[in-house]
Amino acid sequence: MAQLDSSLAARSGTFKIGGQIEVNRLGFGAMRVTGRGIWGQPENKAEAIATLKRLPELGINFIDTAESYGPHVSEELIREALHPYDALLIATKGGLTRGGPDDWGQDGRPEKLIADAKGSLKRLGVEQHKLWQLHRIDTKVPANEQFDAVKSLLYQGIIAHAGLSEVSVADIKAAQKVFPVATVQNLYNLASRQSEDVLAYCEAQNIGFIPWYPLNAGELAREGSILDKIAKAKGAAPSQIALAWVLKRSPVMLPIPGTGKVKHLEENTQAAAIELTAEEFDALDKAGR
Ligand SMILES: NC(=O)c1ccc[n+]([C@@H]2O[C@H](COP(=O)([O-])OP(=O)(O)OC[C@H]3O[C@@H](n4cnc5c(N)ncnc54)[C@H](OP(=O)(O)O)[C@@H]3O)[C@@H](O)[C@H]2O)c1
Repeated sequence: MAQLDSSLAARSGTFKIGGQIEVNRLGFGAMRVTGRGIWGQPENKAEAIATLKRLPELGINFIDTAESYGPHVSEELIREALHPYDALLIATKGGLTRGGPDDWGQDGRPEKLIADAKGSLKRLGVEQHKLWQLHRIDTKVPANEQFDAVKSLLYQGIIAHAGLSEVSVADIKAAQKVFPVATVQNLYNLASRQSEDVLAYCEAQNIGFIPWYPLNAGELAREGSILDKIAKAKGAAPSQIALAWVLKRSPVMLPIPGTGKVKHLEENTQAAAIELTAEEFDALDKAGR
C-alpha cells in the first residue's frame, strides 16, 4: 500500500472548481463526524477531531460539509480542528432543516438560504465560502426564487462558487440560466448509477461531479464477486476498489468518502494510489450497471 503522506490524495489527480480553485480529486465528507443520525456531538469527539486534523497530512484539501450536519456540529468541529484552513477548500451547503436524529426537511425560501450561508460564514470563521451548495431544490418554493438567492449570494461575494445537490440535467440547465453551476453533488457509486446522465452532462460542461456514498458497492461487495476477486488480487478492501473505480470513471469526479475514524480515513485515502487496469475497470462497470 502507498505511503501515508501529504502527497497521497494528489495521486487521484486534480480538478479546478469553477475553473479556478484547484483541489485534489479525492476529498472528504464531514457528515460522519457528528452524532448518531447526523445529530449532535460525535460519540468520540477526540477521534473526530483527530480525523479532521489528519486530512491535510494525507493531502486532502477538499472537504464537504453542511449547515444541517449536526446541525452546525460538523462546521464547528472543522473550525476547531482546521481553522484557518490555509490551502483547504471547505465546501458547505444550506437549505435543509433538522427536527432530530435522521429527521431532515427542506426550506428553500430565499431568506433561509441567505441566512444559512451567512451562519456558515460565522461558524467556519471565513469571510467568503469558496464553494456553497444548495442542498436540495425545495419543491415548495419556486426554483427560480432559490436560484435568484444563490445568484445574490454570488453577487454579494458571500460565496465564490455555487453548486447543486440531488438534481437532474433539466434542473442544472434551469439553474445555469441564473448562475454558473460549479459543482453537482448526487448519489453515485459502483452500484447506484441512476445519475449517469447527470455525470455525462457535468463532464461536457466541466462541472465538478461530487458523488456521495461513494464507498458503497451494494451486492458487489459479497464474497466471490468480481469486486471481491479484484480486491483480493490487489490486497485491498472492496470499498477501496469501489472508490478507485469511481475516481477512474471521470476526470470531473470528486468523491467525498466520510468517516469519523482515522483508520478508516487512511484506508480510504489509499484508494487514490490504486491503479485499475482498463479490463478491471470495464468488468466492474458491467457488474455494477
Ligand atoms: N448531498 C447530499 O444529499 C448528501 C447525502 C449524504 C451524504 N453526503 C455527503 O457525502 C459524504 C459521503 O457520504 P456517506 O457518508 O453517505 O457515504 P460514504 O462516505 O460512502 O460511507 C460512509 C460510511 O461508511 C463508513 N466507513 C467509511 N470508511 C470506512 C472504512 N474504511 N471501513 C469501514 N467503514 C467505513 C462510515 O462509518 P465510520 O465513521 O465508522 O467510518 C460511514 O458509515 C458525507 O460525508 C456528506 O458530506 C451528501
